Amino acid sequence: MNFEPLQNTRIIDAAFGKDVDKIPVWIMRQAGRYLPEFRELRSKYDFFTMCQTPKLACEITLMPIKRFELDAAIIFSDILVIPKAMGMQIELIPGRGMVFPSPLKTPADIDKLKYPINVKEKLNYVFEAITLTRHTLKGKVPLLGFSGAPWTLMCFMVEGESSSTKSKAKSWLYKYPEESKRLLDLMSDIIVEYIVGQIEAGAQMIQLFETLAEYLNKPMFEVYCLSYIRKINSSVKAILKERQIPEVPMVIFAKGAHYALKELSESGYDVVSIDWTITPEEARKIVNPNVTIQGNLDPCALYAPAENLKKITENMVSTFGKKRYIANLGHGIYPDMDPENVKVFIDAVHSL
Ligand code: CP3
Repeated sequence: MNFEPLQNTRIIDAAFGKDVDKIPVWIMRQAGRYLPEFRELRSKYDFFTMCQTPKLACEITLMPIKRFELDAAIIFSDILVIPKAMGMQIELIPGRGMVFPSPLKTPADIDKLKYPINVKEKLNYVFEAITLTRHTLKGKVPLLGFSGAPWTLMCFMVEGESSSTKSKAKSWLYKYPEESKRLLDLMSDIIVEYIVGQIEAGAQMIQLFETLAEYLNKPMFEVYCLSYIRKINSSVKAILKERQIPEVPMVIFAKGAHYALKELSESGYDVVSIDWTITPEEARKIVNPNVTIQGNLDPCALYAPAENLKKITENMVSTFGKKRYIANLGHGIYPDMDPENVKVFIDAVHSL
């Protein structure tokens, strides 16, 4: 595909444990609703149309790169493109979020899903967006790809709408453990192909979002998340090896799962992304020293006055240190954030 050579390798170097000149930084949900230029474009298009139009996805991906000294771009897309590819209808409704008009009600509904799917064909628009964006970036910063993890996707598919307890999806784990595993298994197969496709298209690092891990406890997490998280990483790496494609760093973000941080740091991923509910000191103590940590500023810290935000950020990055560390928030940036505060955060990371 003849992409231009990468000029800023900080994130990749940090992920693989190499030295960096400055601490690398990117922000979860950096290409989103807090940017006026995104909202302007969004007023003209439906959300999934934006995801499915490579030219638009590329334009949105580059929005934060034009504004800030970020060390990576993340492809504009959504974790819910997978259930969509499996035939589920999804609508983004103002005030209600992502709504599935026909969620999975009982295990019999699994058979209504399209499976297996031709990932290359159904999600080709994501691969095209990645390739176009790599070319457009001209090697300025690496381009990250991502996928939702099986449990998080299952939660959306069963709940159908935002819920504070996830009791519908969790009830499946208690009522239908075998059928739940069947669903998680078939999701995993698609996720593996989807991640490999993104890497083949040009993604230079991959983050797996297990955002809804926080609703489980350790024994449930081990059965319904960790085993799939491990398998996805090892299967992706095995396929890359077989096809003689160089490995890219793999990042696991299991929000709220520090009850399993040790296990996560031994699950084969190069980077473990953590939320703000654990201190840098504690995280460093628990995480395997051969693994890079990403995180973990409270997204709400960005509401602090600039001087305080600068101090909080400097304190965080100096505690993590320059080795095996990627600065980020502990979860996605909030939609009402002032972009100026993002700049304060990024500059504070780089000033160290
Ligand atoms: O990080 C980036 O900038 C890349 C793009 C990206 C989006 N969603 C774009 C988006 C990424 C990485 C995601 C991941 C995602 N999507 C997750 C996991 C991470 C997390 O934050 O927890 C989840 C759970 C989703 C599902 C999702 N997408 C929901 C529930 C919603 C509606 C509520 C919300 O958060 O806005 C979305 C919509 C969405 N995805 C928007 C964007 C920019 C907002 C679109 C709009 O309102 O115009």
